[in-house]
Amino acid sequence: MEDNIIYLDHNSTTPLDPRVLEKMMPFLTDQFANASSNHKFGHEASQAVKKTNNQIAELIGCQPNEIVYTSGATESINLAIKGVAEQYQEKGNHIITVLTEHKAVLDVCGHLESKGLNVTYLPVQPDGLIRLEDLQNAINPETILVSVMVANNETGVIQPIKEIVDITHQAGALFFTDATQAFGKIPLDVDDLGIDLMAFSGHKIYGPKGVGGLFVRSRRPNRVKLESQIHGGGHQNGKRSGTLNVPGIVGLGAATELAGREMEKDSKHASELREFLETELLKIEGTKINGNIKHRLPNTTNIYFHGIDSDALMMGMEKIMVSNGSACTSASIEPSHVLLAMGLSEDEAFCCLRFGLGRHNNFAELEMTIEIVNRQIITLLVI
Ligand SMILES: Cc1ncc(COP(=O)(O)O)c(C=O)c1O
Repeated sequence: MEDNIIYLDHNSTTPLDPRVLEKMMPFLTDQFANASSNHKFGHEASQAVKKTNNQIAELIGCQPNEIVYTSGATESINLAIKGVAEQYQEKGNHIITVLTEHKAVLDVCGHLESKGLNVTYLPVQPDGLIRLEDLQNAINPETILVSVMVANNETGVIQPIKEIVDITHQAGALFFTDATQAFGKIPLDVDDLGIDLMAFSGHKIYGPKGVGGLFVRSRRPNRVKLESQIHGGGHQNGKRSGTLNVPGIVGLGAATELAGREMEKDSKHASELREFLETELLKIEGTKINGNIKHRLPNTTNIYFHGIDSDALMMGMEKIMVSNGSACTSASIEPSHVLLAMGLSEDEAFCCLRFGLGRHNNFAELEMTIEIVNRQIITLLVI
C-alpha cells in the first residue's frame, strides 16, 4: 500500500492476507486443472474445493455439501431470493425484508416486485434494530421468505436472528440472511440459529474478490430447494453452473479458516481500537454514534458530526480511507438509505462517516486519524 495511507474501510473490502495468497498460488499456476475433469489433475482440484467445503462447514456448523460457490455475496443473494421466489411460487408470493438491507437485497426484491411479487419492507427503530412485533404482524400464510441481514454494513448493527427465525419458521416460511459483514467476524452457527440460507463473500475476510458462497440447508427443519439462476453444465448439483473458480475457492477456504482461528484475537483488537477512536471522536461537540452500541460488530463505527458535511471532512483527510456511504452505492450522491431509515434527516445523513477497522490497524494510525479529523473540523468551522 502507498506510504502513509491509513486504511479504515474494511467493511468495503479487505486486503488479501499473504497467508491466503500462498495457499492460492499453486492453483493460479501449476495446478490449473478443471475441478470437473475426470483425471488425476482434475481430482486434485476437486479435492481442493472439498477442503474449502470443510473449512466453511467448520466455521458455520453446516454440512460440507451445503455450500454453493458463486462470484460473491451479490450473486449469492440473487440466487437465494430469486431462487426461492421461483421455486416456491405455488406456495405463496410474499417476501419480507428490511429497509436497511444492502442494495443487493433491496434491488432483487424491487425486481421481483416488478414481476408481481409482494414485498414488505420492515422499518427499523432509531438504533437500527427491527421490532419483532412488526415482523409478527407482517408475516402471513403467503409469506415464503424472510430476508434479514445479520449485521449492517454501514452501522454494524446486529439483528436478533434467532428470534426472527423462530417467528419465520412458526409461520412456515424460509429464512435467508445476508451475512456478508458478520461471516468470520462473529460466531455464526446455522443450526443454533436455524438459518435456511446464508450469503457470504471472500473479500470481506481477507480473501480474494470475485468469490463467495451460499449456504443452502439440505436437512431438517427445511430441505431447501432453489431454482437455479445460472444454467449451463449442471455444476454444483445444478444449483449454479459454470467452471469452478478453484483458486478463488481455495482462497475463500483459507481466509475462512484464518477468520475462525483468529476471530477472538481480531475481535478484541478491533473493539479496543474502536473504543479508543470513539472516546476521542465523541469529545468533538455534537458527535454521536449511529446505531445500537451493544448489538454491533466489533470493528464498525458510524459517527455523526454535527453540521459537518462528510465530503468536506473527507477532502481534508485524503490519506485516510473511510466511507461516507456504503461503497457499493457510493456512485450515487444520495444520502444513505440506512441512516434515513433510522430517522436521520437528509442533512444529518450527509454528516456521517463509517470507520471499518481491521486486523492490521494500530493505535498510532488512529491517533493520527483523530488528529486529522479534529484539524479538518476546525478548518471547516473557521471557513
Ligand atoms: C452487507 C453486504 N451485502 C452484500 C455485499 C455485496 O458483496 P459482494 O461484493 O461480494 O458482491 C456487501 C458488500 O459491500 C455487503 O456489505
